[in-house]
Amino acid sequence: MRPYLFNDRTVEGYRRAMTEATARVAGRIRRADRPFSGVSPERLAPEIAAIDLERPLHDHAAALDELERVYLRDAVYFHHPRYLAHLNCPVVIPALLGEAVLSAVNSSLDTWDQSAGGTLIERRLIEWTAGRIGFGPAADGVFTSGGTQSNLHALLLAREEARTEAPPARLRVITSEAGHFSVRKAADLLGLGPDAVVTVETDGERRMRPAALARELDRCHRAGQVVMAVVATAGTTDFGSIDPLPEIAALCEAAGVWLHVDAAYGCGLLVSRRRRHLLDGIERADSVTVDFHKSFFQPVSSSAVLVRDGAMLRHAAHHADYLNPRRMAERGIPNQVDKSLQTTRRFDALKLWLTLRIMGPDAVGELFDEVVDRAAEAYDLIAADPRFEIVTRSPLSTLVFRYLPPDGPRHGGLGRKLADDANLYAREALAASGEAVVAGTTVDGRHYLKLTLLNPETTLDDVAHVLDLLAGHAQRYVDDLAPLTEEVTHVCS
Ligand SMILES: Cc1ncc(COP(=O)(O)O)c(C=O)c1O
Repeated sequence: MRPYLFNDRTVEGYRRAMTEATARVAGRIRRADRPFSGVSPERLAPEIAAIDLERPLHDHAAALDELERVYLRDAVYFHHPRYLAHLNCPVVIPALLGEAVLSAVNSSLDTWDQSAGGTLIERRLIEWTAGRIGFGPAADGVFTSGGTQSNLHALLLAREEARTEAPPARLRVITSEAGHFSVRKAADLLGLGPDAVVTVETDGERRMRPAALARELDRCHRAGQVVMAVVATAGTTDFGSIDPLPEIAALCEAAGVWLHVDAAYGCGLLVSRRRRHLLDGIERADSVTVDFHKSFFQPVSSSAVLVRDGAMLRHAAHHADYLNPRRMAERGIPNQVDKSLQTTRRFDALKLWLTLRIMGPDAVGELFDEVVDRAAEAYDLIAADPRFEIVTRSPLSTLVFRYLPPDGPRHGGLGRKLADDANLYAREALAASGEAVVAGTTVDGRHYLKLTLLNPETTLDDVAHVLDLLAGHAQRYVDDLAPLTEEVTHVCS
């Protein structure tokens, strides 16, 4: 007997191993009194390096004990209400059920003959998502590994549509200053020139200015450049801002330009009963990115790219005799590889399927709405706090702000650099303490702190507590750790 191979003779071992694994995770989740242990790579790396991969333990429990030490003990826990950093969400149990099932059955969604019902379930979910977007019956799409891949896929389709008009060096992609960096990465991967991505300015709320877009479309036209896509963002990474989709759609329609809406973050609004209107206009896009693993409480990975006209997916289709010969497509055999950039592909859709079947879309939307409500309250809290300055009110759930150190005796007039360094220090010191994890970003060249709320369990008290911790660390930097004024001035000059 081969005890580790999963089959009809080893199901009892499988059951025991899974029970043991879930018990370990449950124990960790129950005990986690902070989102992070604060471990440094220097401290953890030797422990992992010391493990001899040539000498197996031959025992599930022993391996899980070891895993507690090298991973579970120091992992970052997104379910914790004071994890407030990146766009990675706490997950719902129905999705974890899906995760357990999908990896055990191990369907691969490239072909019907490796997935059967899995393919049809994914297709239903694509249809459902397209319906929520407001696309018509011609829409289609496919699950992807994440927003980066979804954006790449959409831009590949847009490039192929535009290619007949211009060589790659003359193709341009327009997005806003607040668009995601994966747009640039996609342009690089697609072989567009270094100047291919043009950013247009945003307004005070960090939304693309339609007038700036109109000017850029016109400028490109006059310069003989072909705009292959405009990428609007529905939920920018830093500010949660939503570009004015109807105005942008109108400009794209008038110019005959492909509109891609990157709703990696904002897609949670598709199931919100109170805020769906914030996505109005998204139905006029040619393609849309949705990251269920950001605002649908799904485990990584779970994302999709959708297109208003499913025929566009042909631009990424290739046929291999061994896998998906053209005759299969002609016979209507549903091979998702015909639509995807990936070949072997996880059945991630199952997580969303079980989420919808057990909780339903309204319940997911309600969780996201709660998060957005909390972020609005947190905005008021920070805006009223003289220790901080906050940048803009997000329609979603980010808060970008900075600690403003009061003038102290050691530093006289405060240099720009001192405030920047105090905020950088506060973020790192907080992470090292493990009491909370927050993010950071720069705004107009200055360092800011960022909270991304995605956990409905986070209370306003949690936010207030984190603000106190941040202010404490930042002020300690100013009082005790920063170089004296002369040196600060020297560095600034
Ligand atoms: C607006 C936006 N688009 C795309 C992405 C990339 O998504 P992923 O990390 O799933 O590749 C992100 C990630 O934060 C994002 O915020």
